[in-house]
Amino acid sequence: MYKWLLAVLLMVVVFAACNNEKKEAVATGIPEAQWWKEAVVYQLYPRSFKDSDGDGVGDLKGIISKLDYLKSLGVTAVWLNPIYESPNDDNGYDISDYRAIMKQFGTMEDFDALLKGMHERGIKVVMDLVVNHSSDEHEWFKQSRSARTNKYRNYYHWWPAEKGKPTPRYSLFDVNHDAWMYDSVTNAYYLHYFSRKQPDLNWENPELRKEVHNIMKFWADKGIDGFRLDAFQFAAKDTTWPAFPAGYEKNFLLYYAVGPHLHDYLKEINTEVLSKYNVMSVAEGAGNSFKDAHDMVDASRKELNMAYAFDGVDLAKKDGYSILKLKEIFTKWDSAFATNGWLSIFLANHDQARLVTRYGNDSPAFREVSSKMLSTFIMTMRGTPYYYNGDELGMTNIRMDKIEDYNDVATLNEYKHLVATGGNIPQFIETIKFTCRDNGRTPFQWDNSVNAGFTTGKPWLKINQNYTTINAAVQDKDPNSTLNYFRALVQLRKDNKVLVYGKYELLDKRNPNIYAYTRSLNGKTVLILLNFTNKANAVSLPTTIQLGKTLINNLSNTLTLTNGSTTLQPYQACVIELN
Ligand code: NOJ
Repeated sequence: MYKWLLAVLLMVVVFAACNNEKKEAVATGIPEAQWWKEAVVYQLYPRSFKDSDGDGVGDLKGIISKLDYLKSLGVTAVWLNPIYESPNDDNGYDISDYRAIMKQFGTMEDFDALLKGMHERGIKVVMDLVVNHSSDEHEWFKQSRSARTNKYRNYYHWWPAEKGKPTPRYSLFDVNHDAWMYDSVTNAYYLHYFSRKQPDLNWENPELRKEVHNIMKFWADKGIDGFRLDAFQFAAKDTTWPAFPAGYEKNFLLYYAVGPHLHDYLKEINTEVLSKYNVMSVAEGAGNSFKDAHDMVDASRKELNMAYAFDGVDLAKKDGYSILKLKEIFTKWDSAFATNGWLSIFLANHDQARLVTRYGNDSPAFREVSSKMLSTFIMTMRGTPYYYNGDELGMTNIRMDKIEDYNDVATLNEYKHLVATGGNIPQFIETIKFTCRDNGRTPFQWDNSVNAGFTTGKPWLKINQNYTTINAAVQDKDPNSTLNYFRALVQLRKDNKVLVYGKYELLDKRNPNIYAYTRSLNGKTVLILLNFTNKANAVSLPTTIQLGKTLINNLSNTLTLTNGSTTLQPYQACVIELN
């Protein structure tokens, strides 16, 4: 009897150890090592990735058919944009059932197969958790709006109309920018920071919080590996609804981010869910200061794992951006997390237009080289890289002329707002050709067959006609393509932990064209040189520097130093070991 018990105990211990080893295959000898710090996260927009059934919308079976492509990239985690049941007012960011898969995307069986397929290929799956708001078609909201006495009433924020109009709140997506929507059923206003179909959930209600914990457990029990908390910095609200100063909407983050009990809610999420699973967690938005960001992610506080700050991705505007400013932003954020906390590194996502169009140069002469340079930047900074699907091909903005071709709720509502208020429409169209997030959402360009190999039906969003030359099939065969360069970069990061954990140091700080920095760990230093412009430019480095082996170079000329100076060709990027 005793022996049996011992044998069983031994088996349990061995199993737990193996399991742990499988999950924790991280750098040894680095005390703060974590799998999610070493991860290369590929952000996948399911609607636009691959359609398997010809309805023009990407789906889970489509993703399954491309699992080997994902594996070939070498990425170790995939962040899936929302795949839950949704009326798609905001492409899945308006969820009507948190435990069901959107019918257009497939079934729960498809999801299980997808998760299994990812795991078999060593890829972790991070899911979007959209709980600042739900859809107005969620059962909770249907109940909540039905009567003031309904038990779900307090799942949302309501203001009784007999008390007059509530204190103004700005909505990011509403046609009138008014976040209070009148509902005649109960003669009351409900709050929605995003569209009218995205009512804000009431986090001040413990029952709602418990519902969310259970939803998270449902997915964690399925074996997913992480959560990206959508717009969560807005979740906590001061429900005394104080008035904000005139013009607050121009800097609404100051008033909306990190409300009264946000950290309590995050701690509760951590205790109830995150601490019980081997899952990573990333916040969207990092509050208003380094302190806010640290309070969300410093390990000792037991809230989330990593911050996702917008300063970098928000920098590029239609008229360009300052490279000095870019350097300053990333250097500041790096120093903020030098000893505590962890950062996400990215310059693109599904809420932005294309990486190469915004931060590089998408003209035929420079598209490939500048795209490779930007990838080099993202993959060599300290922090977890988030890389948006299609950027590995150097996909570009589609620049649609007609408003009818756009899908994004924010853009369409802003257009209606401008029409109603007599705004400058031609100017608006010119701006959205550069900025609109639909530019980043056009279907993935797989090959040069009809519809870029994305669908056999009518694509839900126009396909960029440059797919005949910019596509995965062509690039797969070309050893010098942006795709194969990206694969090499991912491998480089995996092979060199200095690129993950190494100390970052900015060089030639005032150089307005070149971003130069070193990463150092355990006696090894690598130098990263990036020319962000379309002209050849010199960089000045400390004269003590001696170049060693070039680890990657997006051009064929070798760099040599003369008195600490070297010249980089337009958009050249090099990662070089130092002797
Ligand atoms: C942020 C998401 O990234 C964006 O796509 C969405 O529209 C808003 N949150 C609202 O959920």
